[in-house]
Amino acid sequence: MSVPEIAPFHAIELSALAHRLAAEGQDIIHMEFGQPSTGAPTKAIERAQHVLATDPMGYWESQALRERIARHYHDTYGVSIRPQQVILTCGASPALVLALLSSLTPGMRVALARPGYVAYRNTLKSLHMVPVEIPCGEKECFQLTARAIEALVPAPDALIIASPANPTGTILPEQEFRAIVRVCRERNIRIISDEIYHGLSYGEPAHSALEYEPEALIVNSFSKYFSMAPWRLGWLIIPEDMIDKARARMGNLFLTPSSLSQHAGLVAFDCSEELEGHLVTYRKNRDLLLQALPQMGLNNIPPPDGAFYVYADIGHLTDNSLIFCEELLRDTGVATAPGIDFDPVNGHKFMRFSFAVSTDRIEEAIARMIPWFSAKTDK
Ligand SMILES: Cc1ncc(COP(=O)(O)O)c(C=O)c1O
Repeated sequence: MSVPEIAPFHAIELSALAHRLAAEGQDIIHMEFGQPSTGAPTKAIERAQHVLATDPMGYWESQALRERIARHYHDTYGVSIRPQQVILTCGASPALVLALLSSLTPGMRVALARPGYVAYRNTLKSLHMVPVEIPCGEKECFQLTARAIEALVPAPDALIIASPANPTGTILPEQEFRAIVRVCRERNIRIISDEIYHGLSYGEPAHSALEYEPEALIVNSFSKYFSMAPWRLGWLIIPEDMIDKARARMGNLFLTPSSLSQHAGLVAFDCSEELEGHLVTYRKNRDLLLQALPQMGLNNIPPPDGAFYVYADIGHLTDNSLIFCEELLRDTGVATAPGIDFDPVNGHKFMRFSFAVSTDRIEEAIARMIPWFSAKTDK
């Protein structure tokens, strides 16, 4: 068995260029990564400062945080899970690795939407599992459908669901979500649901897969809603019969997440006023961007129901989204992500804007991009 080749994350290359340009004095607006520009909630930082000053800390998994997360599932989704089912991780990324390693074996086939988060495909390949990409178009808002999963022959061993999704922000409609779960149950397909963008919805809140399927594995994190990406803290919810397997893997592969982050994360659950304030900003940014896109000649974009992304078709302007995003960055200082990161087949005709920045930066980005796109369209 050879070491699998996996593609780099092109947005990282663009971000590196953005930082080089900034060092040369160019004013850069960072819309390339899905990371909130706000820091951790104030009270979480205060707690961390106190712990740093008073506690030498050690390897540790916070029982209080596991209990708090279990309570969150009860309060938010009306589902009952035991704190033992919660495994604290260093973000959603290791939670996904743990989910895959605890429920599947090398060679197994895992279905996922295309476009989708770049790491799904690459993590599966790294673990010698086989990604089965389901092309999802504008008609289905780039989301999975029960029909598409029904049509897969042979049935995959597992399915990764992401709602709200990266790079589109679209949310699975409830009926479709239920239908997908039904098909998965009938066809014995294990569900892994990445719920990292929960809490960031602009209409109806997103549903957890646990509401329909208690055997689903749930991946989540403090990186998005809680605005704590650099604190590297997340969690996996695992069915009872897999707890021991997952715990053994967590202990051997990663030991524990940062003790300091766990202290801060527990407090972050009580900072909803500050965190809901971020959502108000994102909503404003989203509206501004959606208004501006037609003026940039970008149309037919399914409005993001959640997260903080717009995925735009630029097929009339380019067939190389990487070069296109690089040109946009050099000319205007606006850093974005090329679609090839999310879709190796059609992504050369798409780009992603992240609007998790302050509203004045979005306004500035729009003011720079409208004339730039107009000039491109007129060529
Ligand atoms: C859909 C999705 N899942 C997982 C991750 C990884 O998040 P974390 O920072 O918690 O590892 C990201 C990061 O952007 C993401 O977009």
